[in-house]
Amino acid sequence: MLLKDKNVVITGSGRGIGKAIAIACAKEGANVGLISRTIEELNNTKKEIEELGTGVKVVVKPADITKFEEIEKAFKEFNNELGLFNGVIANAGYSRMWATHEFINEKFAEILNVNVLGVFYTFKAAYPYMKKDDKKDKARFIITGSEAYPHAPSRLTAYVASKYAVVGMQKAMTAEYKKENINFTMVLPTQIDTSLLRGKKAGDGNKPEHVLNPWDLNDYYLFLLSEDANRIDNGLIFTYDFQEVKKVLTEAPSEKRENWEAFKDYFKEKAPKSYENVKNLGKLIDFIITRS
Ligand SMILES: NC(=O)c1ccc[n+]([C@@H]2O[C@H](COP(=O)([O-])OP(=O)(O)OC[C@H]3O[C@@H](n4cnc5c(N)ncnc54)[C@H](OP(=O)(O)O)[C@@H]3O)[C@@H](O)[C@H]2O)c1
Repeated sequence: MLLKDKNVVITGSGRGIGKAIAIACAKEGANVGLISRTIEELNNTKKEIEELGTGVKVVVKPADITKFEEIEKAFKEFNNELGLFNGVIANAGYSRMWATHEFINEKFAEILNVNVLGVFYTFKAAYPYMKKDDKKDKARFIITGSEAYPHAPSRLTAYVASKYAVVGMQKAMTAEYKKENINFTMVLPTQIDTSLLRGKKAGDGNKPEHVLNPWDLNDYYLFLLSEDANRIDNGLIFTYDFQEVKKVLTEAPSEKRENWEAFKDYFKEKAPKSYENVKNLGKLIDFIITRS
C-alpha cells in the first residue's frame, strides 16, 4: 500500500474531487481527515471509506475554511485523533460565472475568500501539526488549482484571480519552508464532472466526453503524496498534459510503453507542447504506467 499509516487531511472532501481523493488515499492505507461545511456529505464519504474495510481511521470535522477559528479547531482535533500530518490537500473551492461588470460584489469576495484566504488558513492551521523531521519523506502541501491558470477564461474573473493567486502563494511558500522539509505542489485540472462545474447534473451519466470524472485525478494526488515525489517542490501538474500522456500511451507500440525513458522521445514527437510541461515529471509518468 502506497500510503500505509500516513495521515492525510483533505478540505472539500464531502463531494467531487476531494471525496475521490479521500477514498483513493484510504484505499492506499492512509488515515484521513475530512473537512467541508456539510456534515451529511462528509459522513457519506466516511461511510464509503469504512465500507472498503481497509481499517484506516476516518475523522470528520465540519468547518468553514474562510473562518480561521473553525479551521484551527478542526486541525487541532485532527492532530489529536490522527497524529502529525504527512499530507494536507487544500482542495475546497468555489466559483460563479458572470460578466465582470455585472459580477455581484459579495460573490467576487466570497470566491477569493474560499479559494485564496481558505488556502492560507488551511496552511496556517495545519502547519503546527505537519511532520517536518523527515528529509527522505517530506510533508506535502498540495493545492487543487485549475487550468484557469494560465488560460484565464472569460466571465470567470474572480475564479481566475484566485487560481492565479495560489500559484504565486505556492512559489513563495516553497522557498519559505524548504528548510522545514515541507514540499508544495499543485494539481491544475481541466473540466471535471462535479457540482462546481455541472451543478445538480454532476454525476448524472451525461457529462460531455471531454469532461473527466473526479476519480480520474486520483493518480496525480497519490503520486504527489508518495515517497517517489519527495524531490518535487513547487510542481505544477497540468492534468491536460497527463491526459495527453495517457492517450498517446494507448497508441504507442508496446516497447515504447515500458517506462518514461522508453516513451519520452515518442511522446515529444506526438505531443511537443505537452512534452515541455511533463518532461521533468518522468517519475509521475512511470507511476501512471505502473498503475495502468
Ligand atoms: N470541477 C471542475 O471542473 C474543476 C476544474 C478545475 C479545478 N477545480 C477545483 O477543484 C476543487 C474541488 O472542486 P470540485 O470540482 O470538486 O467542486 P465541488 O464538488 O463543488 O466540491 C467543493 C468542495 O469544497 C467544499 N467547500 C466549498 N466552500 C467551502 C468552505 N467555505 N469551507 C469548507 N469547504 C468548502 C464543498 O463543501 P461544502 O459546500 O459542503 O462546504 C465541497 O466539499 C476546487 O478547488 C476547484 O476550484 C474544479
